Amino acid sequence: MLVCNTRKALHNAIDESLQGQKSIGFVPTMGALHEGHLELMRRAKSENDLLAVSIFVNPIQFNNREDYDKYPRVAETDRQLLESVGCDILFSPDEHEMYPEPVKERYHFGALETVMEGAFRPGHFNGVAVVVKRLFELVRPTKAYFGEKDYQQLAIIKALVEGYHLPVQIVPCPTVREADGLAMSSRNMRLSPNERAIAPKIYKALSKAASLRNVLSPEEMRIWALNELYKTPEFHPEYVEVADASNLQPLQHWNDAASARIFTAVHLGPVRLIDNVPIF
Ligand code: PAF
Repeated sequence: MLVCNTRKALHNAIDESLQGQKSIGFVPTMGALHEGHLELMRRAKSENDLLAVSIFVNPIQFNNREDYDKYPRVAETDRQLLESVGCDILFSPDEHEMYPEPVKERYHFGALETVMEGAFRPGHFNGVAVVVKRLFELVRPTKAYFGEKDYQQLAIIKALVEGYHLPVQIVPCPTVREADGLAMSSRNMRLSPNERAIAPKIYKALSKAASLRNVLSPEEMRIWALNELYKTPEFHPEYVEVADASNLQPLQHWNDAASARIFTAVHLGPVRLIDNVPIF
């Protein structure tokens, strides 16, 4: 695995790969890799000549300083995991390398960014868009892989690629879950044993709610799931939304959407967990 810490080193490595007409599958990450990331990487590796991964804890997408400071950083373990999935190029810049100048770009995603994560984490998606666009320009991937756990992020990145005609194909991949249903996330590492034991109730509440589609309206389903989450006193739900899966707008009637999902963000101890499941 070639490790590049500078844009220059990465540029040279990518130039060489592209001259050899190699397709590049790219998985951008913030490190603290888990099976969910590795699944994206295995798929990227199998569908392309080369696998490129970035590890960069992007300060400008955190709207909470403590969340940024406490974000797990486990470089050596990550490196071993990357070797195990056959990563060819790792780009691991520091903050100055990624942002030599103050960031001025402002991206607008209309209604996509006014709901859920966009509403509760001001500036978050701008930070994601800035870093992902820069990473795409540096890595020049053929395909880039993103998990559906961050479903709204995926929608924002698709809009970014479309809006700026970026020459990359976005590949959505299903959420990878622990055996008890908890969506895999780097933040799970920060849960206490007791918090970890109850965290799967988030997925259970969403799945049960989704199964009630034939007897509840979208708004009734939203309230049902919220009440279910409130039954666990340690959970502090920020939102539950039942939304059209294509534009993420809250759904009034089932007939208004071709596919729908139920989404939530829940504070549990020091961690904010998000999850979503398809309804249909
Ligand atoms: O999903 C993530 O880990 C991050 O938001 C991403 C896409 C790597 C951008 O920093």
